[in-house]
Amino acid sequence: MKRQELHAEKLLTWRRQQLAIGGRAVDLDWLLDLAGGLAWSALQQLYLDSNRPVELGESLEQLEKLWRRHLDDHVPLQHLIGRCPWRDIELEVSPAALIPRQETELLVDFALEDVKSKSSGRWADLGTGSGALAVAMARALPRWRGHAVDCSQEALMLASRNLQRLAPSASWTVHCGSWWEPLQPWWGSFDLVLANPPYIPQALLAQLEPVVRDHEPHLALSGGMDGLESCRQVIAGATKALGPGGLLLLEHHHDQSDAVLILMRDQGLTDVAFKFDLQGVRRFALGRHPVSLPLPG
Ligand SMILES: C[S@@+](CC[C@H](N)C(=O)[O-])C[C@H]1O[C@@H](n2cnc3c(N)ncnc32)[C@H](O)[C@@H]1O
Repeated sequence: MKRQELHAEKLLTWRRQQLAIGGRAVDLDWLLDLAGGLAWSALQQLYLDSNRPVELGESLEQLEKLWRRHLDDHVPLQHLIGRCPWRDIELEVSPAALIPRQETELLVDFALEDVKSKSSGRWADLGTGSGALAVAMARALPRWRGHAVDCSQEALMLASRNLQRLAPSASWTVHCGSWWEPLQPWWGSFDLVLANPPYIPQALLAQLEPVVRDHEPHLALSGGMDGLESCRQVIAGATKALGPGGLLLLEHHHDQSDAVLILMRDQGLTDVAFKFDLQGVRRFALGRHPVSLPLPG
């Protein structure tokens, strides 16, 4: 990054001018941080002393170009920068895959809490997209074997790059295909499977914000007529693919909790339960492969 020095007052004036055109301060400050290398806390210091010099990793002209593209064409800032902070990592992102969302970070916490006493095992991330969940699993469970699946070859290439850069020494493989199907050789041996499948009902797609609807892949968003088509397929394969006691953890739409829990119970999963997201919404579902009981006698 080529550092540029300028006067703090100039930067603060520029920031006011940009916000007068439109957009949210939180997004502009995110751009200044990620593209300009100016952390939010450092920006706050400038208000206390606007005479000080400030270093930026990008020229104001270039930052303004990015901001205009975001405002005029609704291009997500993450696509303009090509990166997205998520948990403790910074992922490469592109229009090939969903930009990883903050609520999905919780899926990792629930998973790791469940397996904390197991030093080895096998995990899978179904519908890996950018590879966010797979990278988190690979880094947190370095002695486990991992599998990242997506039916989009482009998404899988992005996930591979993120895995190679962020979890180079962990044991993982990527597979192109539909949900459990490319994992057939390992069916019956999965201890932990995470999935954030596409779950937006068809009728709601047109109502999404343009920044999502026009720039993120339809394949990553659309869950079919009722939003549950992908969830159904993932849950349907769980009992044959999970090992005894293996855990399936799913993210779903804000109003799908009851339906997803019923699907899990109908498929014979046990310990079926929901978890809340940061807004207190029932956003996650989990179910376990029934551990077979020894036959009497
Ligand atoms: C909502 S995105 C989730 C991406 C990533 N796991 C995350 O949480 O950011 C859903 C992903 O599922 C993938 N997908 C859709 N249909 C699929 C299928 N039949 N088999 C495998 N992956 C699929 C999409 O390509 C997309 O990457």
